[in-house]
Amino acid sequence: MPIENIQFKGDVEAHAETHLLHDQEALNHALHNSTKEGLPPISVSPLHGKFTSILVNLSGARNVLELGALGGYSAIQLARGLKGKGKVTSIEVDRHHRDVAIANLQHAGVKVPDEVEILLGAGLEVLPKLAAEIEEGKRERFDFVFIDADWPNQWNYFDWGVKLSNGPGSAIYIDNAVKNMFVEGVVGDHLKEDGLDVVAQIGADTRVEATVIQTVAAKSYDGIVLAVVK
Ligand SMILES: C[S@@+](CC[C@H](N)C(=O)[O-])C[C@H]1O[C@@H](n2cnc3c(N)ncnc32)[C@H](O)[C@@H]1O
Repeated sequence: MPIENIQFKGDVEAHAETHLLHDQEALNHALHNSTKEGLPPISVSPLHGKFTSILVNLSGARNVLELGALGGYSAIQLARGLKGKGKVTSIEVDRHHRDVAIANLQHAGVKVPDEVEILLGAGLEVLPKLAAEIEEGKRERFDFVFIDADWPNQWNYFDWGVKLSNGPGSAIYIDNAVKNMFVEGVVGDHLKEDGLDVVAQIGADTRVEATVIQTVAAKSYDGIVLAVVK
């Protein structure tokens, strides 16, 4: 396919959404209610959310950690990937976002906090508390970590994700990792200097192996990091 066909990206997305996405009522409700409650429209796209749900299912994860709940849209998808056999722990710094997320999850029939718990606080303050609970045997380690908040701390969240992981085979997923490789300049965007972005930092981390998948969708060009603990 010639690269010019990228012009059809919106049509492809609409086609795929129409044919592949079922059981969307609760997810659509989460989006509409989030908009009504004044939350920004920055949740994962429907197909992207489905992708994370499938990954969780494929990985056989039982405990999922999310950074950044917003209105709970991705948390619903992650919980669906668990097929009722695990729990999502999501960290959200904004109280109103947390409250809207809980309402949206409950509308979707997700049990809060048994199937999804939303912990209120800044990621870097809550993560050490989770580590202490794991140390004390009060909490299980995480098999799948979904990082979707606070871009400047992507590396710190990644590092915590590996430390709180269940060891070899645990997955760490960073959303918006490609957009975060760029510095916004006066004249367009520029790639950050080699070694400054999370991809370079992960590449120097011997605890994991990882890849980048660039994505093109109706909304934007971006991409993810997917890493697995060795
Ligand atoms: C991109 S949105 C998350 C979208 C959500 N994962 C989804 O797809 O439905 C980012 C969220 O991270 C939250 N956030 C920002 N900084 C944070 C921090 N330091 N700790 C925890 N959450 C944070 C924001 O309030 C926002 O709700």
